[in-house]
Amino acid sequence: MSDFKKILVIGSAGQIGSELVPELRKIYGNDNVIATDLNPTPCAKIIDFGPYEILDVLNREALTTIIKKYGIDCIVNMAALLSATGEKNPMLAWNVNMNGLINVLEVSRENGIKRIFNPSSIAAFGPETPRDNTPQDTILKPKSMYGVTKVAGELLADYYVMKYGLDVRGVRYPGIISHETLPGGGTTDYAVAIFYDAVKTGKYTCFLKEDTMLPMMYMPDCLKATIDLMHADKSTLKHHSDFNVAAMSFTPKTLTESIQKYIPGFSIDYNIDYRQAIADSWPRSIDDSSARAEWGWKPSYDLDAMTQDMIEALKLKHSKGLI
Ligand code: SER
Repeated sequence: MSDFKKILVIGSAGQIGSELVPELRKIYGNDNVIATDLNPTPCAKIIDFGPYEILDVLNREALTTIIKKYGIDCIVNMAALLSATGEKNPMLAWNVNMNGLINVLEVSRENGIKRIFNPSSIAAFGPETPRDNTPQDTILKPKSMYGVTKVAGELLADYYVMKYGLDVRGVRYPGIISHETLPGGGTTDYAVAIFYDAVKTGKYTCFLKEDTMLPMMYMPDCLKATIDLMHADKSTLKHHSDFNVAAMSFTPKTLTESIQKYIPGFSIDYNIDYRQAIADSWPRSIDDSSARAEWGWKPSYDLDAMTQDMIEALKLKHSKGLI
């Protein structure tokens, strides 16, 4: 299936990492996926079924030690500050997102790592980018520090592909919706919080305006995009670290209407904050034809299918007192 066997996941306790690790362990075996994070107490799903190490991506020496200890030949770097947290602490966002990435690229070059996955984001786009059906190759002039680090990260990763022949790959994730681990510090996080509040209290106060349309994706499709690109045949790839991927686009209003199909009494009100300006600089919908053509990307979930699944999962968690 692939030319790598031992995968290191950095930032594995976060929203995506905590679900990607179990998925990769199903394919590669528990002992062949080494989960790492700053967090000393990640969820049981990560820590109980395979190797776990505490690792700060900024510590290049510790990163090298773990690579040698386990014979790592593939690295997935999920350690990053997202858009909203990045605006509160731009220096920290720059440090973690850029110095973390260059550490990953440098140790990969030095240790013969065969494949690196480093995600980008719709935050790479900015207000000058066409906002509807945003093209693959277009204007990248983001206005958030997170976006600046994502564009610089795409360029840096592609530099390592060109200069050193490293096999670095990445997609521009849209907002990711999931029910396992909460996202932290993103502008699209409302689309997760709304489900928790809908199930727990039947109402939600949204920090984005009702007509703010953003590209979004349900976690199973996010995992599929990640793993499919990791496994793609290199010879078919024309792009590397910057693939547009799309699944659905919606506004707080259309998401509310979808939730009301399953929770009829659900209500929403609005208290707009600084994240509106970030959202207003991002695309409304994404053209992912390059991902479809180069490695066969195709999403499975639309808005109503995702809503139904989210509500079922969260109702179950609520009934068990887990949320
Ligand atoms: N979900 C991210 C954010 O809102 C976008 O990549 O920051």
